[in-house]
Amino acid sequence: MTGAVLLALLLISTAVVNIPAERASALENGLERTPVMGWNSWNRYACNIDETLIHRQADAMVSTGMRDAGYRYVNLDDCWQTSRDAAGNIVADPARFPSGMKALGDYLHARGLKFGVYSDRGTRTCAGRPGSQGYETQDARSYASWGVDLLKYDNCNASLDQKTQYETMRNALAASGRQIVYSICAWDFKPWGPKTGNQARSTGDIVDDYTRNPSTGGNPVDEIIDRNNNFGMYAHPGFFNDPDMLQVGNYGTGSVGGRGMTDTEYQTHFSMWALMAAPLIAGNDLTSMNAATKNILTNPEVIAVDQDPLGVQGRRVRDLGDQEVWSKKVQGSGVRVVALWNRAGSAASIHVDWRDIGLGTGSATVRDVVARADRGTFTGGYTTTVPAHGVALLRVVGSETPDAIRITRTDTRTITDLQVRTEFLINDEWHDDYQDAGTLDHSVTLNLNGNGATWNGTAWVGDLLTTGSSAAGPSVVTITKTDPRFIYGIRVHVTFKVGGQPHYDFEELSPLSGTTNWQLDGNGGSWDGTRYTGNFLRIQ
Ligand code: GLA
Repeated sequence: MTGAVLLALLLISTAVVNIPAERASALENGLERTPVMGWNSWNRYACNIDETLIHRQADAMVSTGMRDAGYRYVNLDDCWQTSRDAAGNIVADPARFPSGMKALGDYLHARGLKFGVYSDRGTRTCAGRPGSQGYETQDARSYASWGVDLLKYDNCNASLDQKTQYETMRNALAASGRQIVYSICAWDFKPWGPKTGNQARSTGDIVDDYTRNPSTGGNPVDEIIDRNNNFGMYAHPGFFNDPDMLQVGNYGTGSVGGRGMTDTEYQTHFSMWALMAAPLIAGNDLTSMNAATKNILTNPEVIAVDQDPLGVQGRRVRDLGDQEVWSKKVQGSGVRVVALWNRAGSAASIHVDWRDIGLGTGSATVRDVVARADRGTFTGGYTTTVPAHGVALLRVVGSETPDAIRITRTDTRTITDLQVRTEFLINDEWHDDYQDAGTLDHSVTLNLNGNGATWNGTAWVGDLLTTGSSAAGPSVVTITKTDPRFIYGIRVHVTFKVGGQPHYDFEELSPLSGTTNWQLDGNGGSWDGTRYTGNFLRIQ
């Protein structure tokens, strides 16, 4: 993303840039090492739930093979609760859940499933049921006593400090005596999210539409993908961005609106959720799935993309207008999963160049993970035709390149006073340092290592970016990772002068996955009063 685009985004969202790191009291409950998989009642049934329905959905999860494909959590959303008893204990609706919550948990556990419930940080839930404000400890104890495995915690009817309330419930769950996955539902990325929850919603509520439908409103799949991509650098084992639950198979019959999608669009929805390491929470009626829906939801190779143990959220690496190339680093040397997304209304050919996914330019094998078919061995890149609104999801195995960023001067003019600043994320914490590289008329290697820093209240600072070597040769700055730890995200800022005039731009990546090639060119841009800003740093 260019600095200008990101700046524009910043105007509509305060969440993207310079989010301060937080040291205090991390979550670290050891849960959600890969994204949660399960089912939730809301997208199909809203408040119209009872224990018979939940039993039937749970039974279908087993009989359809969903459980064995990895879906384990059966999550009650809003409306399971009606009141509190005289002692303040939260009580399930006695008409709809006559056997009680403990019995429901036992029913699920007996079938190898897990039990999820819903509450809200405010006085009332979004549907007006009792919220947990002031009852956090008591509610967490109730959940633990029923055998609850996951809590989705919503954001309605709340006037107290949001971060504090989400932390209060996090601490209450931690003290409850049971391991409970904490799913934050605050409808937007929050800087404190990764240290508070195991997953956190990055968007408003999803509707059953592929693209914006003015008569439904809400958040369609294509817009959610664009938005969720902004927060990719925060995803890792233990914390995942949640672009909301699946609509696959609802065909416009759901409870939250939308005209439904084609099977191609549902496949795109599912493939992109998998590429983005999103929680896979089905939201359809599991008792009446057609073959297309079942095939999409249970495809083992697509699920494996989502569940890859590295926990990387794939990101857009090349934007060709209506055609986009996305890439996710997965376990193994030289392995990437690539999504070729055709947003256009007619079929189009899309090309992925191995260099754009951090692989060497030689040969690589390609397997279509949706079709579960090998496509062959290809040199330099691969081209295929993708249907309208479709995604080709490909597993590419080629030659790994070092984790590094190469910035090559393509401006024919002299670039002087170059300063490179890196901000990078290790374990949810920012690290920050810069290095002066002088005149870019030779090759410089900068070493990047977050060890040995000191915490300044916002980030780890110190000599983290240091000059490794400097030699005659092409005008290239190479940032080489010498830290053995995984760097989930990095933002590189460059300031430099051309003809004595100051220039500035930045790019960000999540994570470093092989060698990324950028070019540096001071042409274009606009004067902002102190310096030229523009798309000076960009994909080569
Ligand atoms: C909010 C949430 C939804 C759902 C409803 C329930 O809108 O974002 O996912 O839980 O509340 O009322």
